[in-house]
Amino acid sequence: MRVLVLGGDGFCGWPTSLYLSDSGHDVTILDNLSRRKIDIELEVESLTPIQSIGRRLRAWKEVSGREIGFVGLDIATEYDRLVDVLRDQRPDAIVHFAEQRAAPYSMRTSATKRYTVDNNIRATHNLLAALVETGLDAALAHLGTMGVYGYGWSGSAPIPEGYLTVKLTTPDGELEREILHPANPGSVYHMTKTLDQLLFSFYAKNDGLRITDLHQGIVWGTQTDQTARDVALINRFDYDGDYGTVLNRFLMQAAIGHPLTVHGTGGQTRAFIHIRDTVRCIELALENPPQAGDRPRVLNQVTETHQVGGLAKMVADIMGADIAYLPNPRREADENDLIVTNDQFLALGLEPTKLSDGLLEEGREIAQRYRDRVDPSKIIARSVWRKGMETAEDLLTDLPPEG
Ligand SMILES: NC(=O)c1ccc[n+]([C@@H]2O[C@H](COP(=O)([O-])OP(=O)(O)OC[C@H]3O[C@@H](n4cnc5c(N)ncnc54)[C@H](O)[C@@H]3O)[C@@H](O)[C@H]2O)c1
Repeated sequence: MRVLVLGGDGFCGWPTSLYLSDSGHDVTILDNLSRRKIDIELEVESLTPIQSIGRRLRAWKEVSGREIGFVGLDIATEYDRLVDVLRDQRPDAIVHFAEQRAAPYSMRTSATKRYTVDNNIRATHNLLAALVETGLDAALAHLGTMGVYGYGWSGSAPIPEGYLTVKLTTPDGELEREILHPANPGSVYHMTKTLDQLLFSFYAKNDGLRITDLHQGIVWGTQTDQTARDVALINRFDYDGDYGTVLNRFLMQAAIGHPLTVHGTGGQTRAFIHIRDTVRCIELALENPPQAGDRPRVLNQVTETHQVGGLAKMVADIMGADIAYLPNPRREADENDLIVTNDQFLALGLEPTKLSDGLLEEGREIAQRYRDRVDPSKIIARSVWRKGMETAEDLLTDLPPEG
């Protein structure tokens, strides 16, 4: 397949591009490198030393003999160039990772709220309009998030895959309908993903676009078989308070002797997936697209759920760290149930990688190898969900000094 990977320089997009290339697909990355620019803005770097996109692509050619194309393009603002690339490349499939993806960053300031909405909604809509304009029948897989469902909305009922069956009482009797699962976003970032869903529903219905929306859990891990083939291919590892994901943050904190930062009681339950399963799920989704005229296919891209406090205890036990309970900057319930259905990926043949499968050891090894690159002043999450909210700053005196 000829595949375009939008956002292919990012944490999920880079290993996906290599995996698809390794599987024999003809891959071109489209990326405006905005994630690297946000690193500069936040004065933080990936824990792992990631190379420039040019160096990465040359290294991949050296180790695999395969070429991955690259087009520097802002999908949100360069619509005409996007149309030209689609006409030129005529992809069979497109993977859309190209959005601002950090909830804390999206809640920092009104500028980052507006950037997140402008970037994410325009990128998604430009892509859909460009597919219609070019008449391409490419299968589109988009990365959504489990956060579109919200947490605890349906108590202990399992979260279905995208659609909910509801019964309506009408004067003529009871009607049964399947509706898009009610959206319950917890941040501006999550809100953009719920808006994406409406764009997909409309373009699938109106224009017959073939769309798969992957509601992904929190990704953990760093390396895949492909990124591990050369140090120049190493994947990014975000650890800061805005972009770091919870399990990777705990591993890094333990590696430098920093207390594990649990927000609130740690009773929040979240869904997880290892980066190795992310790349496999994308390939499965591209190989099994919906037909024209179908509604968007929604798959829950998760393999297990854990309570945040339980994860912290697990990492603390393995690596010998303390745990610090900090004020929760988010507006969310202290505790929630989360049972997620992921039957479709299991039926397609996904063999889930579990936390117990020894890969925590790999994360621990990476965190320890690159511990000298950590800037401890970037660990605490400083973004708060509403004005006047208590922040972790109050407790900073109890934590190790900034480095
Ligand atoms: N990382 C996770 O735990 C996680 C969990 C659930 C869902 N997701 C989703 O997966 C996708 C990828 O996440 P990630 O962790 O790889 O994020 P990332 O920030 O590392 O990668 C996103 C990439 O998209 C690029 N990009 C952003 N806006 C762009 C634009 N307008 N034009 C061109 N390129 C643009 C960035 O430069 C970056 O390389 C996101 O949509 C995210 O919402 C990620």
